[in-house]
Amino acid sequence: TIELKTLLGSTGMTTLDPGFGNTASCSSEITYIDGAAGILRYRGYPIEDLAVGATFLEVAYLVIYGELPEPAQLKEFSDKLRENAGIPDDMGALIDAMPRNGHPMSLMASAVNTLAAYYDDSVDPSDEEQVELATIRLMAKLPTIASRIYRNSIGEKPINPDESLDYVENFIKMTFGDGAPEGELGDLFNKAVGMLLVLHADHELNCSTATVRVVGSSQADIYASVASGINALSGPSHGGANQAVLEMLEEIRDSGISIDDFLERVKAREMRLMGFGHRVYKNFDPRSKEIKVLASQILDRDENPDELFKLALKLEAAALADSYFTDRKLYPNVDFYTGVIYRTMGFPTNMFTVLFAIGRLPGWVAHYREQLHDPAFRIARPRQHYVGASERRYPGASDA
Ligand code: ACO
Repeated sequence: TIELKTLLGSTGMTTLDPGFGNTASCSSEITYIDGAAGILRYRGYPIEDLAVGATFLEVAYLVIYGELPEPAQLKEFSDKLRENAGIPDDMGALIDAMPRNGHPMSLMASAVNTLAAYYDDSVDPSDEEQVELATIRLMAKLPTIASRIYRNSIGEKPINPDESLDYVENFIKMTFGDGAPEGELGDLFNKAVGMLLVLHADHELNCSTATVRVVGSSQADIYASVASGINALSGPSHGGANQAVLEMLEEIRDSGISIDDFLERVKAREMRLMGFGHRVYKNFDPRSKEIKVLASQILDRDENPDELFKLALKLEAAALADSYFTDRKLYPNVDFYTGVIYRTMGFPTNMFTVLFAIGRLPGWVAHYREQLHDPAFRIARPRQHYVGASERRYPGASDA
């Protein structure tokens, strides 16, 4: 239960709403969610349609600009991203100098923050052309930055973007190089990564998007705002959950604990069942349904399905048969099955949340841009309910 209190303070009435569970801070046209019915739509289009029919770039265009692109618009968008995918040599050197064993989310947020320094011609939020330029640069360069961080972590040389490849293919190639799967498997992996990015593209005022809006509300530039969103996403209660789910599955497998005993520990509040529960979805998360189907396609390819996928299926079934979880309306969320898919593709666990960030970027950018045109736009500045000491005197202070 969320406690909502109306308080009378020195400046009038305020509402105490921990975690903003019942507070809308803006009006938005981007994403519609009905958490009770399990409905998610980007700009009116159901997520199920987009997941199956649209490419990530079509969806990114839709989320950012409001309409599905005409073929010529999509080509122009795609061409601009290809042309801008490179990063300055200095910036590459900076990324290379970062600690190789640092968490990629920390390194990625730092690298994105420096974009404002490399591209100070696109940091003015009041100039639409500058915001558009920064939008293209962010979309174009984030996969390049992410793959460079990954290759450094395994001691391999970076691979420059290849303008002949599409967005997703290029990211996979820059990440895995010659190790990228080819043929039918390559096509399946490209399709799967594209679909996962589509499913992550926006989710209204989640923690990281709210962060982008709050930071942007101070007129901070879009690079700084998106870097802040990446940091917000990194936590295990948000995007970091995809990494935490895989670690949880590995712990169950390696410790030999039974699923029932593991769930007893969750119910005793020793830990949370990662990848379960959502602030808004109280029925099911429509993204997790699509991802479960995708996971079956990828992990059930032979007669010997992935052991962690099998474990995840059993864990889900056991939790859904337990009233502790159903009474609290805890169902698998978007992160429950993504980790097992990424793992099969060869991404290390600490890159999972990076993939989430690449998918969520269109949403962050769209919200930043929408806010700039909101007639009700003003700096985000919540109030608090003060519960500290009443006035005290510093020792020796005079009354004068
Ligand atoms: N495992 C066990 N119990 C849970 C879980 C869970 N994953 N999630 C919520 N609960 C329980 C709480 O203990 C609480 O029980 P109580 O009423 O008996 O005290 C009740 O369900 C409500 O939980 P809240 O923490 O109030 O729910 P909230 O909306 O604040 O949190 C959150 C949502 C953070 C997603 C939570 O469900 C959670 O921690 N899940 C695990 C982490 C995770 O998967 N995060 C990814 C979310 S999706 C995303 O960001 C992309």
